[in-house]
Amino acid sequence: MEEQGYDYGMIGLGTMGRNLVYNMCDHGFSVAGYDKDLSMVDKLKQGIGNYKIVGARSIKELTDALKKPRVVLLLVPAGSIVDAVIDGLKPSLSREDLVIDCGNSHFTDTDLRIKNLAKDNIHFMGIGISGGEYGARNGPSIMPGGSKATYARVSSMLEAISAKANGEPCVTYLGTGSAGHYVKMVHNGIEYALMELIAEVYQLLKQGAGMTNNELHDVFSKWDLGSLHSFLISITADIFMKKDDLTGNDLVDMILDSAHQKGTGAWTTEDAMAIEVPVPVIDISVSMRNLSALKEERNIAETLLLGPGKKINYGKNELVDLLGDALDFSFITVFAQGMELLQKASTVYKYELNLENIAAIWREGCIIRASLLEDIRSAFSTQPNLSNLMLSDVFKDRLISLQEKIRHVACMGIDTGIPLPALMASLAYYDSYRSGWLPDNLLQAQRDYFGAHTYERIDREGIFHTQWNQKES
Ligand code: 3PG
Repeated sequence: MEEQGYDYGMIGLGTMGRNLVYNMCDHGFSVAGYDKDLSMVDKLKQGIGNYKIVGARSIKELTDALKKPRVVLLLVPAGSIVDAVIDGLKPSLSREDLVIDCGNSHFTDTDLRIKNLAKDNIHFMGIGISGGEYGARNGPSIMPGGSKATYARVSSMLEAISAKANGEPCVTYLGTGSAGHYVKMVHNGIEYALMELIAEVYQLLKQGAGMTNNELHDVFSKWDLGSLHSFLISITADIFMKKDDLTGNDLVDMILDSAHQKGTGAWTTEDAMAIEVPVPVIDISVSMRNLSALKEERNIAETLLLGPGKKINYGKNELVDLLGDALDFSFITVFAQGMELLQKASTVYKYELNLENIAAIWREGCIIRASLLEDIRSAFSTQPNLSNLMLSDVFKDRLISLQEKIRHVACMGIDTGIPLPALMASLAYYDSYRSGWLPDNLLQAQRDYFGAHTYERIDREGIFHTQWNQKES
């Protein structure tokens, strides 16, 4: 006999939570929803057609409405709110129930929650969801982590609601513990970097070449038809056409040039540092958001610190082609950094990630979706243990043929004083990575000089220390 009750519970009925509920109902699942703001519960029930939805007015009402063992999804802001919700939920849960955190939680919090809830035989999964409001409603990219057996309980629902790339669901089991939230964190780090690169190119086209918003729209629309085809390039094209309701001006020109962030980019950088993986374009992208926020200081510095003041020496068409190639080059290096971070994290945290699968589920639904991901998928499909994407047969020649172009762009930044930190970091990453010799012998000598930190030699095994001279401390 089929058990009575709703298939899934959803706590947190903001735009993302509500849209995910509707998406689940579209695919035939029944859902009970709860939010501590009861007006959101009322909103959930508006316009639900024939959906099998119940709006619960307490956590107890929600858990009572669910089939057992229960599956409760959380879509609430990351941090202490998740713990508060779990604490409120726990008394109404039973053994074998499953709680799924679909927010942007820090992966270390997820590991802790899995461990703590396991003491009461309650299962916990961390799932990254990307795609914004539209994705939640129509098909996001879904990044699940946890135990394989637990994933099996929700895999058919997740596959049904996910975006599809060539008919394949943009969701698959990623790995144990916090693997899903880790992969989502790196997704966001990549997102920060792609956005910063686009912003730098915008500044060159706008300030350097004096392009209007209409022209910028045309440039980004054209790029979106080629190898740069991606969600972020396509929304950038749209943004230049949007008028401001308040003034009638182009909206982009009315927005303060001071970026905000919720922190996932910084988390990517912090963990990359902790596990010693170079992700310089992601690092600089986080720093540039921080620098942009120093608006008052920048206004003062603009009047005090001089730059070179040279003009760009390229025609508009030539410039657009160069910048398109520079973006293509740097997008590849950003994915190379993100993927190398995932490769190392997989070993350090024992996630057993499959990078081909990750590239595959990022092809649609998420913010970093791009045609490039089909190539990345194919690179890892033929070379699964690839240490760095830049070495793959798929990308090596493409980078070699584009490198001259980004060098010209970097020179433009130097000559004009238009800041291009992420584009330059991308080129510097490529040049450093392809250097069989780097000057770190000197750095090792300095460390040994002032701190007796020792060094290794090129001609024999072992650890060495030298008495350099009197200045040694
Ligand atoms: C999100 O996950 O909400 C965004 O993709 C990143 O958010 P942020 O730019 O506010 O950090």
